[in-house]
Amino acid sequence: MTAPTPLIAGNWKMNGLASSLGEAQAIAAGVAGGKARVAICPPAVLLERMSRALAGTEVLVGGQDAHGEDAGAFTGDVSAEMLADAGARLVILGHSERREAYHETDALVGKKVLAALRWGLEPIVCVGETLAQRQAGEALPVVIGQVRGSLPPELAGHLFSVAYEPVWAIGTGLTATVADIEEMHSAIRATLTDMFGASAALIPILYGGSVKPANAREILHAAEVGGALVGGASLKAADFLAIIHAL
Ligand code: 13P
Repeated sequence: MTAPTPLIAGNWKMNGLASSLGEAQAIAAGVAGGKARVAICPPAVLLERMSRALAGTEVLVGGQDAHGEDAGAFTGDVSAEMLADAGARLVILGHSERREAYHETDALVGKKVLAALRWGLEPIVCVGETLAQRQAGEALPVVIGQVRGSLPPELAGHLFSVAYEPVWAIGTGLTATVADIEEMHSAIRATLTDMFGASAALIPILYGGSVKPANAREILHAAEVGGALVGGASLKAADFLAIIHAL
């Protein structure tokens, strides 16, 4: 069976200014020879400048969210077409911070996925349970429900990834155990195979949640882990490169 090409994406969240572009260039300068595709997802206002700064390098640039509509009276929002116009090649959708703070539902995330596909963006669709859900023994059904509800059938044949990010492991320094990650990723793989057939073997399933240089090797080599979605540790070139080279 062919394995998916791993993807390691940095989610800068609401961090980064024009003065941070040098950090992105340092990342690009250090990725050569790595085994993964590498992306940085900066705040939307930095996208165009970052995509210019990284032109000709191996590092792709992505958005952190996109509206489900292409244009209109949606104050403060950014469309997938705008992200693509600014140089984005990927887009993170359904991050737990957006599911929680903006009440994004699976159906809305699915709509955003379709918008991304209309404009040729590669979606990274995030799923993950809260601590309360895990403690109640609901982690598997919650995450599998998110996978089924957030991934429309139109994704078949397109390049996309799923990022498993347990909410309780994000920005907390806590990481899921390798056994927990492998259990969840295997269940996600089985669900993707049920939804998309044999080609689902090529969909990278990323892990996210306090990935750092010290734990990257163990996580990236766990079964069914096809890369990582990295928050805080992607802001510093040295840390992000150490994660990339742990593969
Ligand atoms: P941290 O790596 O900072 O825990 O963030 C993970 C995340 O939410 C990436 O999308």
